[in-house]
Amino acid sequence: MGLDQLKAKAPATPAEILAAGVEAAAGPVSLACSFSLEDVAIIDMAQRAGIRLGVFAIDTGRLPEETFEVAEALVERYRLKIDWYFPRHEEVEALERGKGLYSFRESLENRHECCRIRKVEPLSRALNGLAGWVTGMRREQGVTRGELSAIERDLLNGGILKINPLLEWSEAELLAYAEENRIPRSRLYGQGYRSIGCAPCTRAVREGENARAGRWWWENAENKECGLHRR
Ligand code: ADX
Ligand code: SF4
Repeated sequence: MGLDQLKAKAPATPAEILAAGVEAAAGPVSLACSFSLEDVAIIDMAQRAGIRLGVFAIDTGRLPEETFEVAEALVERYRLKIDWYFPRHEEVEALERGKGLYSFRESLENRHECCRIRKVEPLSRALNGLAGWVTGMRREQGVTRGELSAIERDLLNGGILKINPLLEWSEAELLAYAEENRIPRSRLYGQGYRSIGCAPCTRAVREGENARAGRWWWENAENKECGLHRR
């Protein structure tokens, strides 16, 4: 089925979007996994539906310990093989020697520099050779995600397919799936965290705050992207 036919066929469940996207890609497809509840739910769905999906993760060097605990739990539960990617060590060494350990707090420019070195550059290597990639993004996560499509061409990454199966899911639907299927989750969710990235750039949120309010909390909402999802 072509991309246009897929769009015309909405609405679809996340598992249907995933299956259709993988089929349309007609080649290797991998999930970009941050070990969020969203990403783990996608792994769970793929396994239940027998969908062939690779899994890669970017170890930025600043992830919280709790994230690695989830990764281990997934390896055990799903017999998962995770393709880990790391930033180029020369770039991290130059950044930390030149600007210190917390340069990303000093300006938006510095923050983008750190995200580029630790996330965006490794992503470009992870996507090499793929026909498509899958993310756990949801539309309600914030102003930066309102325009996404469930399946789109990623023109900034060679035109491969980008599949966002959970795009229309609410946080409540995600939590219900997680509960029902008892999927592994980071201990940080039990401490008020609702979106988890690098440790120094993530905090718990208060009642009534947006789920991503704890990401780069010193910046404005329209800046809350790390560059992995530029369009
Ligand atoms: S971020 O891009 O601002 O960090 P977020 O944490 O909401 O975004 O994650 C959105 C999606 O980006 C995840 O569902 C996952 O597909 C991908 N992603 C984020 N961080 C990583 C990572 N470290 N490794 C692999 N994929 C990631
Ligand atoms: Fe650096 Fe923070 Fe971006 Fe992680 S989220 S790559 S620590 S700026």
